[in-house]
Amino acid sequence: MELKEKLINEIEISIAIENIAKDINKIYSQNTEVIFIVVLKGGIIFASDLMRKLNFPIRLDFILASSYGNSTKSSGIVKIIKDVDVSIEGRDVLLIEDIVDTGLTLSYLKRLLLNRKPKSLKICTLLDKPSRRKTKLTIDFIGIKIPDSFVVGFGLDWNEKYRQLPYIGILGNKES
Ligand code: IMP
Ligand code: MG
Repeated sequence: MELKEKLINEIEISIAIENIAKDINKIYSQNTEVIFIVVLKGGIIFASDLMRKLNFPIRLDFILASSYGNSTKSSGIVKIIKDVDVSIEGRDVLLIEDIVDTGLTLSYLKRLLLNRKPKSLKICTLLDKPSRRKTKLTIDFIGIKIPDSFVVGFGLDWNEKYRQLPYIGILGNKES
């Protein structure tokens, strides 16, 4: 599949991140550390821009989950490849994703993390494809809602390619 068109440019992305940061900064106290968990790998570029705009202390951590199935479809069956390093019990947790599509991956991660009894758990995503949702999921902070196309760039990949693009592009029509 090839890159078809630019969907969101660099400026639009940085405005979206600025707005999310403003909303997040309103929620958390400036003297309580928040566990900032980035969902690998796609979330890293968004997370690194976002964290530099947050005005409360964070502790950076990562989780790597892989969903079984092919590269453009989510199966909802999630395997944890790398878990977070710290205990989140009694802590404020902010989970950072690149995109929410069916919502199945995040629902799974949310359940997994809630079982560990954090004080709070909030979810933040740069992109959202609400028309594709297959499960009820509350997302606390959303950057940009997009139509149902497969997108790449700014951390998002197709078969591990295109993550380094500084903008979000549409890859091509989905095979199904
Ligand atoms: P979900 O479980 O269907 O919500 O999908 C979640 C994961 O699928 C995201 O975290 C991405 O890694 C991947 N994904 C979903 N849609 C796209 C897309 O348009 N481009 C690249 N990756 C995507
Ligand atoms: Mg992801």
